[in-house]
Amino acid sequence: MVSDSCKKRFGKIMLEQMELLNQVEIAPNIFSMILKGQMVSQMQAGQFLHIRVPDDSKLLRRPISIAEIDRDSLTCRIIYRIEGGGTAIFSQLPVGSFLDVMGPQGNGFDLSPVRAGDHALIIGGGIGVPPLLEVAKELYAKGAQVTAVLGFSDKSAVILEAEMKKYAEVIVTTDNGSYGRKGYVSAVVDEFSQDYVAVYSCGAPAMLQYVDRKFQEHPHAYLSMESRMACGMGACYACVVHVAGQDESVNKRVCEDGPVFETGTIIV
Ligand SMILES: Cc1cc2nc3c(=O)[nH]c(=O)nc-3n(C[C@H](O)[C@H](O)[C@H](O)COP(=O)(O)OP(=O)(O)OC[C@H]3O[C@@H](n4cnc5c(N)ncnc54)[C@H](O)[C@@H]3O)c2cc1C
Ligand code: FES
Repeated sequence: MVSDSCKKRFGKIMLEQMELLNQVEIAPNIFSMILKGQMVSQMQAGQFLHIRVPDDSKLLRRPISIAEIDRDSLTCRIIYRIEGGGTAIFSQLPVGSFLDVMGPQGNGFDLSPVRAGDHALIIGGGIGVPPLLEVAKELYAKGAQVTAVLGFSDKSAVILEAEMKKYAEVIVTTDNGSYGRKGYVSAVVDEFSQDYVAVYSCGAPAMLQYVDRKFQEHPHAYLSMESRMACGMGACYACVVHVAGQDESVNKRVCEDGPVFETGTIIV
């Protein structure tokens, strides 16, 4: 079952024109944007923004995770990789333009089990690392000890290592060994004997399957899922995942019930 704390909707979904304050390419084809708007005051780590592409031929909004939240300045950061036409258009938008944003959407990570002095584990892969940066920042602010194991395909794809190091002990792996430890995050995580109060993960499906299996019985282990989306607000059922132990007629919607789920609750 998804716990009440995970199911709780945080704040209202808003529709807003957010101002683009800054955009930089932080790795080949990976861009970081700073956006300003009122909806920042409602944001929680692990939620996402559903962003309209300023091109009338692209009707569906694009879901992008919130990577950092600064409620004082009403700014947030998103980090995205160019995958196709929509994200390519985002990457060309100049500073000062406005993006049509629906959000903050979805249920984020439950950080409440972690208290000062507790150990927490973050497991991230590739373009799944961005939402975990805000998780690390907020856990650090609570006085928790955070270990982050971050996996990338190769050295050129490594992002957010320095920023993550401000809040966590960071171990980077690359599939081909061009930077950090060679291999997958699972090899590093399997070496740990420490018990963690909570585990937070986001990344490619194979990585999430590993985390789901390994931390199946853990009371506070969380996966952030991706799926193709249309409405992004729970109405169209384009984004369903199946529930563990139930027949296929039982669904959860990634956009509305997720994107964060507890391990052992859905079929990854
Ligand atoms: C909850 C959530 C959070 C995400 N966070 C991030 C993030 O922080 N950074 C990042 O780079 N990417 C993220 N993604 C993936 C991102 O949404 C897609 O890369 C993006 O929509 C691709 O759009 P496109 O027009 O460039 O690609 P196209 O392939 O041209 O898109 C065609 C259609 O497919 C959809 N689509 C394509 N790939 C995906 C995908 N992987 N997930 C969902 N829909 C997809 C598009 O939204 C669009 O409707 C996230 C996806 C989800 C579901
Ligand atoms: S995208 Fe429509 S219900 Fe999730």
